[in-house]
Amino acid sequence: MQNIQSYIKEHKDRFLNELIELLKIPSISADSTYKNDVLKTAEAIKTRLEKAGCEIVEICETAGYPIVYGENIIDPNLPTVLVYGHYDVQPPDPINLWDSPPFEPVIKKTELHPEGAIFARGACDDKGQMYMHVKALEFMTANNELPCNVKFMIEGEEEVGSANLATFVKNNQEKLKNDVILISDTGMIANDVPSITTGLRGLSYVEVEVTGPNRDLHSGLYGGAVANPINILTKMIASLHDENNYITILGFYDKVENLSDAERAEMAKAPFSLENYKKALNIEAVYGETGYSTNERNSIRPTLDVNGIWGGYTGEGAKTVIASKAYAKISMRLVPNQDWEEITELFQKHFESIAPNAVKVKVTPHHGGQGYVTPINSIGYQAASKAYQQTFGKTPIPQRSGGSIPIVSLFEQELKSKTILMGFGLDSDAIHSPNEHFGVWNYLKGIETIPYFYKYFTELNN
Ligand code: BES
Ligand code: MN
Ligand code: MN
Repeated sequence: MQNIQSYIKEHKDRFLNELIELLKIPSISADSTYKNDVLKTAEAIKTRLEKAGCEIVEICETAGYPIVYGENIIDPNLPTVLVYGHYDVQPPDPINLWDSPPFEPVIKKTELHPEGAIFARGACDDKGQMYMHVKALEFMTANNELPCNVKFMIEGEEEVGSANLATFVKNNQEKLKNDVILISDTGMIANDVPSITTGLRGLSYVEVEVTGPNRDLHSGLYGGAVANPINILTKMIASLHDENNYITILGFYDKVENLSDAERAEMAKAPFSLENYKKALNIEAVYGETGYSTNERNSIRPTLDVNGIWGGYTGEGAKTVIASKAYAKISMRLVPNQDWEEITELFQKHFESIAPNAVKVKVTPHHGGQGYVTPINSIGYQAASKAYQQTFGKTPIPQRSGGSIPIVSLFEQELKSKTILMGFGLDSDAIHSPNEHFGVWNYLKGIETIPYFYKYFTELNN
């Protein structure tokens, strides 16, 4: 594949401009105000896939946002790669913390991206990474380098739980039949330390509501004599971790997979600087479960975090009041073998059991999904590893991530194939945060690496 580098060089500006155009559409799936923009993005991706040489492209309607499906079947006897990605993005707020408007992409240099990075919501998660696959397909079809069959499945509801994609996958097993699933929606260690994501955490997301008296009360007249739901909620939440930062929910750790000392030692070999980590976050110290390293805490160990908490008076000045209700949103990141529905139930029972009689508690499950680990001896992983060796000049390090893509375990369950997570973002790219960005170098490196995956995957399958 002599000409991939020259092809990228020749078309670099267009590759960037096309991505910038996509990033201008605010495809925020969580906010119905943007419904037309989300739909417009699906149409745009259909057009781009067609232009990239995808022979059949369809917009598949669902009960929610549509799935863009495409395929090039060159020979039914050859292997098939199924590419998954998402065209929806997270809400951009808080808007005032962005240095430039989230849907007006700009390219700026940063310390880690000396060749520039595109700043926009969705630049890295996942429009930029998804679009690398469209451009890699363009290269392969234009240069007669597509060695096997390819299918694309790009959804618009990943950031809100992929509920309709799950139904689509269950109902279209034959259409989606494949030999490997390829996703770029994760990260790597550093531009000079390539890595392939071999694990994702599961997720259980719940909302809790604590109700005290039937109305807001004067905090002088009633204070001290009735339960204050905010006091109670914070006390209940604090009790969910013990002094070693273990989660106190009975049965929570029962199914957690314990890694062997050898596996942990292998993990510890990945380059990591605690000093730089603290510096980047401006913290004096890290914090977490006793007995585990930072990288273990955020990948192979389960967690429980409050994502938001509210109630009472939060306006200007002071108001003396005991609120009737207090709320919190809580996420639990899970590891392989923990079942998200079981954990949700354990949480619900536990939370109800620790509430004093003076309040009522309601737990509402939101969404969730199972964790995932992919073996490194599969043909798919080997092909990916060879592809990185080719374009980075280094063997990539297998690394488990702390993030979640809940649909991946469903892919394995329904389509019986493994997923390869070839992510090209960096943890510091600020996904879900203000000033999200994606390195220009990373974008082009992804486009360069992907065709080699197809090549080696096809070769290794022979
Ligand atoms: N692409 C991310 C997940 C991710 C990012 C995994 C970086 C590994 C490394 C995905 O879009 C995401 O944000 N997932 C959500 C879960 C989803 C159900 C909203 C998450 O991890 O919070
Ligand atoms: Mn994503
Ligand atoms: Mn995301």
